Amino acid sequence: MSKTVLVATEKPFAKAAVDGIKKVLDEAGYTLELLENYTDKSDLLSAVASVDALIIRSDKVTEEVIAAGKNLKIVVRAGAGYDNVDCAAATKADVTVMNTPGQNSNAVAELAFGMMLNLARKKYTGKAGTELRGKTIGIHAYGNIGKLVAVIAKGFGMTVKAFDPFVDAAAIEADGVEAVDSVEALYSSCDYVSLHIPATDKTKKSINYELLSKMKQGAALINTARKEVIDEDGLLKAMTERGDLMYGSDLIPDCLDALNEKAGDRVFVTAKKMGAQTAEANINAGIAAASQIVAFFEKGDATFKVN
Ligand code: 3PG
Repeated sequence: MSKTVLVATEKPFAKAAVDGIKKVLDEAGYTLELLENYTDKSDLLSAVASVDALIIRSDKVTEEVIAAGKNLKIVVRAGAGYDNVDCAAATKADVTVMNTPGQNSNAVAELAFGMMLNLARKKYTGKAGTELRGKTIGIHAYGNIGKLVAVIAKGFGMTVKAFDPFVDAAAIEADGVEAVDSVEALYSSCDYVSLHIPATDKTKKSINYELLSKMKQGAALINTARKEVIDEDGLLKAMTERGDLMYGSDLIPDCLDALNEKAGDRVFVTAKKMGAQTAEANINAGIAAASQIVAFFEKGDATFKVN
């Protein structure tokens, strides 16, 4: 039976991705509704009212949004992290939540290196910087993005370490990456630490002063994960006390002004979350989301269900 799918993106997909989503939905006989660049939650609440499925990015899908979606059966987060979706409320309302793991990972991994180079080259201000070759990178969480970071790091001639309590050390070592057995060991032994942990109740504020203080002289923390995993008071304290630490972030910290005041020349923050903002990532994640919705309705396929 024909379905209506709303693509609601406060930060829109590339046009080619929307075209790809439309093609998948057209082929299934489904209707696409598009809500882009919206600035008010009320726009999402009215747009979701009559649709069967919802595709989003970092857009917040709260209990209120789920309640407003009277016919809503499925929400697909076109991307990896689904901390922006109230999964408990969705489950209660019998709404399936999915993500599209791996589809935008390469874009995020590449951006992590863009930020490393930016900091290593003193933000391209003309001052002498350093090179990545010969340095050690620590990958904090060895999932889809972490694995790609490892591959690229080797191309730069870096030594690669990783910490991930949920991945078998043997699987990490099989990729030619040293598996370290504690987060402290990772942070204390690497010139760059690249963060790829999700924001959960356990990880929120887990990157704290104590951990940051263990970082090597001149080390840089690269955050393409989530703002919430950083204990910002601790970050500010560590960056203020240690004139050598660097921080690159694809998430605008709440303490940005203070951070810039204390350590502006060692901090690089993107203007808007850019990790997955490539045509390729948008196409991959957007088309995967549309295909998963069609497979869900037509075949009951719930492969990527997360709730
Ligand atoms: C993700 O979790 O997939 C990334 O953080 C990308 O988020 P975005 O789609 O809002 O750019």
